[in-house]
Amino acid sequence: MMTLSTPTVQVVAPETFGATAAEHIAATLRVKPDAVLGLPTGNTPVPVYAALLARRDVNFSRARVAMLDEYLGAGDRPISFYQWLRSHFLAAAAIAPERILRMPSDPEGIVAACAAYDRQLEQWGGCDLQLLGLGLNGHIGFNEPSSPGDSATRVVPLSASTRDANEEYWQGEEVPEFGVTTGIGVILRAKRIILLVNGARKAATLRQALDGPIGPDCPASFLRRHRDVLVLADRAAAGQE
Ligand code: F6R
Repeated sequence: MMTLSTPTVQVVAPETFGATAAEHIAATLRVKPDAVLGLPTGNTPVPVYAALLARRDVNFSRARVAMLDEYLGAGDRPISFYQWLRSHFLAAAAIAPERILRMPSDPEGIVAACAAYDRQLEQWGGCDLQLLGLGLNGHIGFNEPSSPGDSATRVVPLSASTRDANEEYWQGEEVPEFGVTTGIGVILRAKRIILLVNGARKAATLRQALDGPIGPDCPASFLRRHRDVLVLADRAAAGQE
């Protein structure tokens, strides 16, 4: 894969961040009602899912969803990314179970289950739109620094900074040591990618992703190898405040 272009960066006011991203998703579903949406969890997409669900003009009845990542061993527990996504989007949008590609999390048979995830996604034709958040250390999904740019979906050890960042969700429980993530190679096969970035604390990471060397030190930098990436940043993340 060649480096084709610098991503387009759309800078918005923080109060329009969610609605702007929601419009991109709505546009994808208007053109292709059974589009495959690759969806992340986390703080960043909260206003995006809220804005999307608040719209009356989006038809989710044929939309398909591929989860981006999960904690290893999370199963159906309330703390799982699956339950997070259910409560923030899937349930309200009434996405039927057969239209949800869950990230496997059972440690038993996880290698085969990750390969099956990639096969199913390929059978669906890949993601039409992959939404991503940006980790403080440059991760996308759970692709931590040192992840190869052609990686498949797999189990990965979580970095100390990611485990710290996720501590608040685990309410006293120990944050798992491993995650399961869509590989960077798989992410790069999406037809379109939107990287969502908000808040001043992500500004330096975003700058590194956009202007630093392309490589495993900053996994988000690999997005510059894709020809249709939109970075949707609020002013603080874009360094304009
Ligand atoms: C979550 C995910 C992570 C987050 C990233 C940013 O499914 O894939 O890569 O997108 O850690 O997290 P927030 O949005 O909480 O700052």
